[in-house]
Amino acid sequence: LDNPIILGLESSCDETAAALVRRCDDGGVEVLAERIASQDDKHAAFGGVVPEIAARAHVERMDGLIKEVMEEARLDWKDLSGVAATSGPGLIGGVLVGLMTGKAISLAHDLPFMGINHLEGHALSPRLTGQVEFPYLLLLVSGGHCQFLMVKGVGDYERLGSTIDDAPGEAFDKTAKIMALGFPGGPAVERWAKQGNAEAIDLPRPLLNRKDTLDMSFAGLKTAVRRAVELEPVNDKRKADICASFQLAVADILSTRTRQAMDIFRERINAERPHFVVAGGVAANQTLRFRLEADAKEAGFAFASPPMRWCTDNAAMIALAGLERYLLGQFDPLDVSARARWPL
Ligand code: KG4
Ligand code: ZN
Repeated sequence: LDNPIILGLESSCDETAAALVRRCDDGGVEVLAERIASQDDKHAAFGGVVPEIAARAHVERMDGLIKEVMEEARLDWKDLSGVAATSGPGLIGGVLVGLMTGKAISLAHDLPFMGINHLEGHALSPRLTGQVEFPYLLLLVSGGHCQFLMVKGVGDYERLGSTIDDAPGEAFDKTAKIMALGFPGGPAVERWAKQGNAEAIDLPRPLLNRKDTLDMSFAGLKTAVRRAVELEPVNDKRKADICASFQLAVADILSTRTRQAMDIFRERINAERPHFVVAGGVAANQTLRFRLEADAKEAGFAFASPPMRWCTDNAAMIALAGLERYLLGQFDPLDVSARARWPL
């Protein structure tokens, strides 16, 4: 087929998603249909994702979402060229749901199967809009991940540095949880931070005194926020000040490491105006985004970020990664297994 169509499935965390992408004549990709079912309401009471609840919700939703995208795109199984599903890393019960569904469709309809690393999906996501060429520098910053990647081509990724403990999104969620600001915590903390003084509370920037590494740490920051909350009664002013100070600390960490990562990228790759891409749920944060965009401008990098729906977990990026692998003939056998851990 000249313009292959790939069905992509995602279920590694708390988003159930299905999408269909097609390769266009000009070499770009078109998202024919996509659905994302959020489970936020199911996890809100717990202030975080509960793995068993997530897995059950994926089972309930996945088949219906696949039916919906197939109908919206007016496709029959015989129109598909292949099936791609996230096979890790993530919450294993959830990963299994998408993976088994993808394998079943592949087997029943005799379609090639591609097991996709969720991080590869995020890494390739800026290519959904067709504006970014290889190679580029990517900061993936979400509830589960925080890493700098040199994206040199499909399957050709080099990790330059990552968090050694928590992801920033986790720290946002924890910060919101201890002050009961709501779930998911990121947007709530951002709202409160707008009214606060970012200089009010002195929070640590762990590891940042070390300039010989791109590794990051957020666990100590989380603990420091907890201490600040316990130190004196949290009225609204103090809530806002804690949120603003926390957000600034995260921005300082990401910004400092981004500048270092850009220097390393420049040393390795000769490009007039290389691309710097930020993806992942935390990239939704306006303060962070503006800060990183300014960093990019100053360093002579072109700044890009996928539209919000493709920054957070989605199946379009999994279908795209599947399409790229399909075009290279990189199919997976049906005994490929789900992996809770799977560094890129
Ligand atoms: O990419 P994503 O949907 O899922 C993961 O793969 O983790 O990211 C979700 C994370 C959550 O921790 C959420 O609190 C955070 O992204 N987030 C934000 C904002 N919106 C979502 N963090 C900071 N500011 C935001 N506006
Ligand atoms: Zn993700």
